[in-house]
Amino acid sequence: MSKQKIDSRVNFLGVEFPNPIVLSSGILGMTATSMEKVITSGAGGVTTKSTNISGRDGNPCPKVITYEAGMLNCYGLTNAGFLNEKNEIKELKQRRPENPVIISIFGFSLEEFEQIAKKLDQTQADLVEVNISCPNVKEETPKPFACLTGMPRQVVKLVKKNTKKPIIVKLSPNVTDIVAIAKEVEDAGADAISAINTLGPGMVINIEAKRPVLSVGSGGISGPAIRPLAVRMIYDVYQAVKIPLVGIGGVTTGRDALEMIMAGAELVGVGSGVYYQGIDIFAKINQEIRKWMQKNQVKSIAELVGAAHR
Ligand SMILES: Cc1cc2nc3c(=O)[nH]c(=O)nc-3n(C[C@H](O)[C@H](O)[C@H](O)COP(=O)(O)O)c2cc1C
Repeated sequence: MSKQKIDSRVNFLGVEFPNPIVLSSGILGMTATSMEKVITSGAGGVTTKSTNISGRDGNPCPKVITYEAGMLNCYGLTNAGFLNEKNEIKELKQRRPENPVIISIFGFSLEEFEQIAKKLDQTQADLVEVNISCPNVKEETPKPFACLTGMPRQVVKLVKKNTKKPIIVKLSPNVTDIVAIAKEVEDAGADAISAINTLGPGMVINIEAKRPVLSVGSGGISGPAIRPLAVRMIYDVYQAVKIPLVGIGGVTTGRDALEMIMAGAELVGVGSGVYYQGIDIFAKINQEIRKWMQKNQVKSIAELVGAAHR
């Protein structure tokens, strides 16, 4: 078979990613140095750790536990605040201007979302991810906004009104009908959707200590255990909306990423995989994708988006 030229680039909302694999929010996304390392290691782009205006300590340790099929975390949206993130993005952009940066934001009320949305245009981020779906923060009682009827629409409208940057809305798997929420955010003006955030929360108990391992008892489930759920959700959402998708959940190989793309994702997020395989996972996934494309005579990622529906 003759070697053909493969185009791994993805144009997402007018922003060019050199390849479809992006760092998901919450993992190595707090400093310019760690994000630059992720880019140097092969990621097409990065998403920052979710930030609010004032910053947050989050929950005490232990915050992460792995089990046979995945991991649980209860970080509780630890972050150093908007100003800090803005400066880290500025520094990263000076060093790596060609790689897209997605700033992830959150708020515990509509007012907080409005406050941070008003400042987004001061940042050098290319895109905004609106996190309405963290499942392990007690302030978000009774549930994250993504799980409360009508709230996703209100958040999207508010953020859109206050920034010129395109917004990606991050959805929760912890709902009975993710398609309804996807349609709601599209209708409210979201430019794209990312899915999924962590599942649950779930719990692991230390049977010797006779108590939950995580400090606050439970945490969001991520990693390979949630991949089939994420793929199914991307598949269903792809059929229901016209806006582009970022597929996230349990991706650790090129095969997994291709599955997500065939389900309908244009970009694929990798989070927990970094814990399992280290930072080289980005180059490894891209290499496996390119190898598959070469073998199957596929020239561009665009040809594969939604292929499982045809
Ligand atoms: C330690 C950890 C911290 C996370 N923090 C955030 C966060 O701040 N904001 C967010 O939107 N998602 C956060 N997530 C969720 C991930 O971005 C991702 O949606 C989820 O883990 C599923 O992908 P994965 O299986 O590749 O990790 C976090 C996940 C982990 C494991």
